Amino acid sequence: MGNEQPTSMVISAGRVVTCDLTRATSADPLHVIENGAVWVKDGIIVLVGTWEQVYQAAHGVEARWHFPKSVMMPGLVDAHTHAAWVGSRHHEYVLRMRGEGYEAIAKAGGGIVASRNAIREASQEQIADVLRQRLQRMMRAGVTTVEVKSGYGLDEEGERKQLEAIAFVSKERDVPDVVPTYLALHALPPEYRERRAAYVDEVTESWLPAIAKAGLARYVDAYLDRNAFQLDEARPMLEKAQQAGLGVRLHVGQFADIGGAELAAELHASSADHLENVSGEALGKMAKAGTAAVLLPVASWTLGQNPPPVAQMRNAGVKMVVASDANPGTSPTESLWLAIAMAVRGYGLSPEEALLGATVHAAQSLGLEQQAGTLSEHRAADLSVWPVEHEWALVQPWGLREPQLVLKNGNVIG
Ligand code: NIG
Ligand code: FE
Repeated sequence: MGNEQPTSMVISAGRVVTCDLTRATSADPLHVIENGAVWVKDGIIVLVGTWEQVYQAAHGVEARWHFPKSVMMPGLVDAHTHAAWVGSRHHEYVLRMRGEGYEAIAKAGGGIVASRNAIREASQEQIADVLRQRLQRMMRAGVTTVEVKSGYGLDEEGERKQLEAIAFVSKERDVPDVVPTYLALHALPPEYRERRAAYVDEVTESWLPAIAKAGLARYVDAYLDRNAFQLDEARPMLEKAQQAGLGVRLHVGQFADIGGAELAAELHASSADHLENVSGEALGKMAKAGTAAVLLPVASWTLGQNPPPVAQMRNAGVKMVVASDANPGTSPTESLWLAIAMAVRGYGLSPEEALLGATVHAAQSLGLEQQAGTLSEHRAADLSVWPVEHEWALVQPWGLREPQLVLKNGNVIG
């Protein structure tokens, strides 16, 4: 749309859900402004307040949108996705519905390795095309920042191909902001079955330094579990990544508690994700270290698992993030809204906890609290407007809900 876009605009709504924690109180945890408005200039929010406050202050306004019966939200932040996959694993899904286990299918050469094979056959351009379309669908649903992991290459060439596709798409204009993560230890390729240590060594000593040096990732990730990688395998790689300036996010406790949450806390990781199996003690350590818990309810629901210990997380003071985990194996969805609905319905999060978990808490876990996740001054003008009277209507598991307006950096997303 380019130059046709207005540069100064006022958007007003019946309820403006700011998610601004500096203004929130225990009675008003989302800091909602009734009859609220934002003034957007050059892609940045310059003022948030009541209709009167904003109308009086705003000048040189080129466009006004008034939604008196709607809810305005900050652009959502999806802090855990594998959105750069190609192909489909629907055969495995049907096998699992017939009773086969996710771990058993992986052991037999399916699962992550099946997605690796699809990445091998795809060009960087093909991966970029699929990713772009996926990210654009997410953005049309109001998701304006997305973390995207690699992890389906499983060797240097494949991981770089994914990460370069991610970098290529993230430079485009009509996509969400993208945070790239090198998922360095995801699955052991079958050809390394007898050479496990050599694989971990190669990741640590060769592929990671090259990928970090090329600036292809902001975070590193590892899948720590009984049938995945062990703490001692991952630790040197994670420390090396930190020395290279990458932050750490970890897949932890999805099937078994092998101490991954403790390692996350020890490394002051930005997040420990999944956490269906985690001890109260480890949660205390995470709270102390400032490591967020990224909850992935669509994945645990797809796998037929019990929810993580949310009440213990709450009591320990662990920050809870809600993310889609969009991937072709455990979380076949692109919808962060579905994850929010399931976090409330299945995990017992309050609507406010779920909405904070997909906005400000998610942004904090990605180190983006100054840019994204709240409707407040100096942040990017990323927002969405919904034809509902109250934000509680947004956490119900309805199907397709159409926003009335989505802005990314002040640009209208059509
Ligand atoms: O977040 N379990 C590890 N990683 C992903 C699934 C990846 C896949 O099955 O393709 C997850 O659940
Ligand atoms: Fe994941």
